[in-house]
Amino acid sequence: MSFSRLSDEEVISYARFHQAHGGLVKESAEDFGISRTAASRRLRAFRERGLSIPPDDHSGLPDPEADAFAVERSEWFVEKQRLQDQILELRKQLREGRRHAAVSVDGPSWPVVEPGPRLNVAPAPAIRPPSREWKTAVILPDIQMGGWHDEHGVLHTTHDERALSVVRQAVRDIQPDKVIGVGDNLDLPNFSLKFVRSPAFARDTQVAIDRFTLFGGELRHDAPGAEIVFIEGNHEKRLTLWALQCAAAAFGLKRGAALPEDWPVLSVPYLCRMEEHGIEYLEGYPANTYWLNERLRVVHGDKVKGRGSTAHLYLGDEDRVSTIFGHVHRIEKAMKTREAFSGPRTVLAECFGCLCRVDGAVPSVRSGLKSNGQPTGGTMNWQQGFGVVEYQPGDGLFTTESVPIFDGRAKYRGQEFVGEGKEAAA
Ligand SMILES: [Fe+2]
Ligand SMILES: [Fe+2]
Repeated sequence: MSFSRLSDEEVISYARFHQAHGGLVKESAEDFGISRTAASRRLRAFRERGLSIPPDDHSGLPDPEADAFAVERSEWFVEKQRLQDQILELRKQLREGRRHAAVSVDGPSWPVVEPGPRLNVAPAPAIRPPSREWKTAVILPDIQMGGWHDEHGVLHTTHDERALSVVRQAVRDIQPDKVIGVGDNLDLPNFSLKFVRSPAFARDTQVAIDRFTLFGGELRHDAPGAEIVFIEGNHEKRLTLWALQCAAAAFGLKRGAALPEDWPVLSVPYLCRMEEHGIEYLEGYPANTYWLNERLRVVHGDKVKGRGSTAHLYLGDEDRVSTIFGHVHRIEKAMKTREAFSGPRTVLAECFGCLCRVDGAVPSVRSGLKSNGQPTGGTMNWQQGFGVVEYQPGDGLFTTESVPIFDGRAKYRGQEFVGEGKEAAA
């Protein structure tokens, strides 16, 4: 049954049940006897319809913020503080290398990959009420989450903490209806079947999983009512292809008594606990396409024009819809107007850059490999930034804004966002 056909009473009933079970999608879905996907959709329906849970006898005084997000008033401040404490503790552990004490270049062990840390995410209060006619989406291009520890035990990341801080501030300010990650959210260099695999990276796959799990929790905290979607890129696809070709006996394995729609253990959405944060994962690269409306699609993309405009490759005669793409890590925009039955029709192709480091830390065709397995040099023609799209649902209009990030700073509609943290370390 489509979740959109559920009555308000049924959706409220599930939200009340979900709340009573500690706000964990997995557990309330199991107890309610439905799939986690259906549970996440019911929660989304609850938020999109602007419903609130009618007060029980024990609910005490009304609290508009707590009601808006179906959180018990008594737990509201406790949960918020707990999440912040967890984030601070994890960051401290990552910084000090305690979480990965076995991860040392000289160490004897090869740590087993495990799911990211379990978080209790409390939503931040909404800043802006959603518009009825026009919707807003924040687009996050290639993050390439990951890193490696050097011979001194210092963590070097392939993602840029300052750029991630900037987009988090923007998301909190904009309160979009949707947050879309265009893919290559994790770098996973050591699952590549094409490039040289260095032990320096293999030992720190867990760093990427832990940090991306945390980032999912941070986004859910920043935009509690938003639909968050991560599109699979060619780098996440590496995990699937590696299992298929190098560990076929483990391909597709799930934990015991799993539901048919549950993710395999060796998959990005499972390892990064996406369902627990109400995050949708769109697999199937390169065919996976997310439609913002009937005229505008978001893809990771598989086209690259080394010299010149990749955007123009998406404006060929077969491309009659507009495309937001990633993969090339460059800020590009192009338009083309053609004759159509209803009159001139303009289509757009745009890339908002990337959120990874652009100083050569990400392994690329130009980087070298030192004798200790660490990458060196190789500046690429990449730019950092993110996108903001406003659109009308259905066969409606849309407009895009590209927001470049320079040296950890961005300016959007009169507001300056200054990134916190370091470019090079978590
Ligand atoms: Fe890519
Ligand atoms: Fe990428």
